[in-house]
Parts: sequence; C-alpha cells; structure tokens
Amino acid sequence: MNALSYRDQLDTPCLVVDLDLLRRNIEEMSTYARSRGLALRPHLKTHKTAEIAALQQQAGAVGFTCAKLGEVEALADTGVLDDVLVAYQIVGAPKIGRLLSLLDRVRLTVAVDSIAVAEPLSQAVATAGRQLDVVIEIDTGLGRAGVAPGEPALRLAREVVQMPGLRLRGLMTHEGHAGRAATREEMEEIARRAGEAMVTTANLLRRSGIPIEVVSVGSTPAAFATTQVEGITEMRPGTYVFYDAAAFRFGRIGPDRVALRVLTTVISRPAPNRAIIDAGSKTLTTDPPPPGRNGFGYLIDYPDATIVRLNEEHGIVEFPPGSPVPAVGDRLEIIPNHVCPVVNLQDELFVVQHGQFLTTWRVVARGKVR
Ligand SMILES: Cc1ncc(COP(=O)(O)O)c(C=O)c1O
Repeated sequence: MNALSYRDQLDTPCLVVDLDLLRRNIEEMSTYARSRGLALRPHLKTHKTAEIAALQQQAGAVGFTCAKLGEVEALADTGVLDDVLVAYQIVGAPKIGRLLSLLDRVRLTVAVDSIAVAEPLSQAVATAGRQLDVVIEIDTGLGRAGVAPGEPALRLAREVVQMPGLRLRGLMTHEGHAGRAATREEMEEIARRAGEAMVTTANLLRRSGIPIEVVSVGSTPAAFATTQVEGITEMRPGTYVFYDAAAFRFGRIGPDRVALRVLTTVISRPAPNRAIIDAGSKTLTTDPPPPGRNGFGYLIDYPDATIVRLNEEHGIVEFPPGSPVPAVGDRLEIIPNHVCPVVNLQDELFVVQHGQFLTTWRVVARGKVR
C-alpha cells in the first residue's frame, strides 16, 4: 500500500491535477450548458490532453475548439477528436495544405474574418473538390481578430456565401474583454452586450436570406453571462476545466475550486522572510496577476506571501514579517495566474485524488503553436 502523499512523492516542479475538482468543474459547465439548451464546445488550449478531452466528451461536449492546426493534429492522433472548430484564421499555403489533410480525419469548421482570409481557403478547397464549413468571427469588443458586428459582418457574409467550397454555418466571438472588467456587474454587462451583438447580427444575416445555424460565444469569466442572451446556440469556455488565479476576480471561484496547481520545493532560505522555490518563469510563466492581486501566482498554504520575482528556474517568495516561512525541502502548491501557458510548458500532468498520486496524463498538444 502506498500511503505517501503526492506532495512528498512527486519530483518538482510539476503540475498536479486534482481529479475530483477537475470532474466537478467539467460537470458544472456541462450541466449548465444542458440546462440552457446550449452546445458545449470546450477550448482545448487549456489542457491539450486527450484524457481530459474524453472526460469533457463523456459529460456531453458536442465537440472541441482549437486555435492551431497542430493541436488538432496531435489530439486527432489520439482518436479523441471528431468535431473541431478552429477558432483562428488559417493563412498561408503550408497551413491550408495541412487543413485539407485534416478534413479526411476530423469534421472541421474554421473561422474567417475577411475576404483575404476566406478566398484562398475557398480556392484550395474547391480545387481539391472538397467542402469546408466556416463561421464568421465577430469582434464584440476584445479588439483582436474579427469583423465588426452588424453591416460589416453582413457584407462579409454576402461574399463568403458566394465562395465555392465554403459553407457558412454561423458566427463566433471570443468575448474575453469581459474578463477585464472591474466588477462582476460590469463583466456581466459587457458579456450581455457581446451576446446581444451576436444575436442581432445573426438575425440581420437571416433577414438577408443567409441561414445562420451557429451563434457561438466563448470565455470562462463570462460563461454564465453571455449565454443568458436568447439566441446564443453554443459556448466555448476553456479555462474552466482547471480555473486559475485570474478566476478569483468575480467572486464565484476561490482557491478551493482550482483543479491544477504547480507543486514546487523550497530550495533556499537566504533571508528570514524570503524563500526560493524551484519554479521560475519556465514553469509559472511571467503572466501578470489579475488586477487586485500581486505576484506570479497564489500560494495555497501561504496566501499572504508574494512571488515577487522570477528567474528562469528560481521563484523568489517574500513573506510578511512575523508570519510563518517554509523550510528548505518543504513543498508548496501554487495556483498560476494564467493556467493555459503553464500547461503548455509541461510534458505531463500528475493526476491526484484524496492526497494520493494516481497516474500521469501526457500533454500531447503542448508546444503546438503552428
Ligand atoms: C476563440 C476563443 N474561444 C474560447 C476561448 C476560451 O476562453 P477562456 O480561456 O476564458 O476559457 C478562448 C480563449 O482564449 C478563445 O481565444
């Protein structure tokens, strides 16, 4: 019998995933999507792991979202993917070639936000005698890719429906700007406006004779807000499987709900109120804390301590005067500021349950940025 806690058993730095918390997060989002009659299409960029994708599927996910074709290729190899929205513009001959190959393996839908993006896709797909499903990406305020809602989206849709080889299925947006709001009320208001812009645009296109089947939104902070707007058909949260310190902002999620933590070891105690841990920027990333928080992660056992600085392999942690400070060799667990890039730096996740190490899962799509 192995009674050793995973905290003492595993080598560090490593990522531990609490299976019960992971399942709870997956189940909660699936139950919500079902209760609203929404298709749930989780973004895979957060975990990049076949085993977690399978859990999401078992809980009712209709398919998945990816940003990069490399993620689709890696996860398709595991057999877990059958229906994927590539929520990213596919530009350039090498990528279009890979996209065509993937069409034989996975049902794909691709985002387009301009004629310049859509036309080469149309040409390549039509030349190959294939058909490609597309959605128009709408910028509802994030200020990233996407065409403006309303008339600009209609103008683009009118062009896209004429393009050989392309089949326009609907609209998508990533309302990630809602997560930058100062308060929960403001976040909900931004999310509601994004949802309304999507539905209004979908109805404008429909009135113009363009059938719109999918109205897809996606963001963890706004997941329960944007989808209150009638007419949204699909949600694509990603971070919700684990959550992270950014999720604490609007009060719904606290450290007790976060399923992934960085397990690290204190390797030096050079000053009374300072500890050095073996997780630096190559583990925690330099993603800044969300507004209202300090440092490069949240220390579960020492919530008043701050990870003030990171070198590549060192984290410098400061503790308030007079407060307990861990000793060399102690293990600490950290909730990262932003979990997605942290996972992308690791080959495996260490799955734990009731304090015991269970198994490892390979992060098969890590590093797939092409
Ligand atoms: C296009 C798209 N959809 C969905 C998501 C998921 O959002 P979140 O990370 O808040 O879960 C993202 C996140 O970056 C995204 O870019």
